[in-house]
Amino acid sequence: MRERSRQPQKKIDDANTAVVNLRGDSVTYTVFRSDDSPRQIQELRVTGRLRDKVAIVTGSARGIGAAVAALFTAEGAQVVGLDRQPARTAMDGVLNLTGDVTRPEQVTAAVATTLARFGRIDVLVNNAGVNVFSTPLELPDSDWDRCLEVDLKAAWIVSKAVLPPMLSQGSGSIVNIASVHSHRIIPGSFPYPVAKHGLIGLTRALAIEYASRGVRVNSISPGFILTPQAEEWLAAQPDPEKERRRQAELLPCKRLGTPEEVAYTALFLASDEARFINAADILIDGGRTHLYHE
Ligand SMILES: NC(=O)c1ccc[n+]([C@@H]2O[C@H](COP(=O)([O-])OP(=O)(O)OC[C@H]3O[C@@H](n4cnc5c(N)ncnc54)[C@H](O)[C@@H]3O)[C@@H](O)[C@H]2O)c1
Repeated sequence: MRERSRQPQKKIDDANTAVVNLRGDSVTYTVFRSDDSPRQIQELRVTGRLRDKVAIVTGSARGIGAAVAALFTAEGAQVVGLDRQPARTAMDGVLNLTGDVTRPEQVTAAVATTLARFGRIDVLVNNAGVNVFSTPLELPDSDWDRCLEVDLKAAWIVSKAVLPPMLSQGSGSIVNIASVHSHRIIPGSFPYPVAKHGLIGLTRALAIEYASRGVRVNSISPGFILTPQAEEWLAAQPDPEKERRRQAELLPCKRLGTPEEVAYTALFLASDEARFINAADILIDGGRTHLYHE
């Protein structure tokens, strides 16, 4: 097993402080969140579920991607983070690369760096994404292009770069971060759901194409998750606190999700525990998508 830092504390980003305690091969991972009241604490026991695996996580500088990178590292993976902005804080065990996932040459360079450093790629998490919310007829063409480029085409660009090494190895797991917008339409959110519906289509098409060669492709559809992007959206609302409460009220569980909860779903799909799961999508939305009405 590779060496781990024995530092008792490490800062993950402005909103999270993680404490990692190591006992033999098992790790207790504690996350303190301060972005919502009251302070939420999660005690998470991790046990090397990605030991010896190499993972690329896009959009790893913050939000869901940062949580995935941190958890995968704690679970024993060698993690390469790829983001167009530098990571806010260095994370032990994560090799952070700067690059734009819509630029094939930058993606190819990141994949080459990963292979040169670690020799294989077992997992890809296509997480980088942007919110582009408009009504259809008000949408500038440039915003359509930006949304479809980042939220759909980039997942193919990065998949196309990692599939050859995965197919040579005869194994690999690609996890695409889709959305509840992949399943349901909220008026005024155009064209985000177009891209996210497409991402489910990409997931299924690649999953079926390469299943017999050992590569699995699945997606996760999060609901409202409290990340910096979500906080930015809330801050832009006329009454952010009222909107935050309204969003939580819409959920059967009456609370919003956390990046760590999405990271645990990605961990399962990335791990060998999910080896018979392919072309699937896991909703992680507290049940909201299936609520008819209250
Ligand atoms: N937060 C939510 O409520 C929510 C819900 C459903 C789905 N999602 C999806 O989850 C993913 C992560 O969302 P988040 O809320 O953590 O967002 P975020 O904005 O907090 O983080 C996204 C990261 O992706 C990076 N990124 C964006 N465009 C990039 C590009 N072209 N190249 C490289 N990096 C790029 C950003 O720099 C950022 O670090 C997205 O795909 C988003 O659509 C989020």
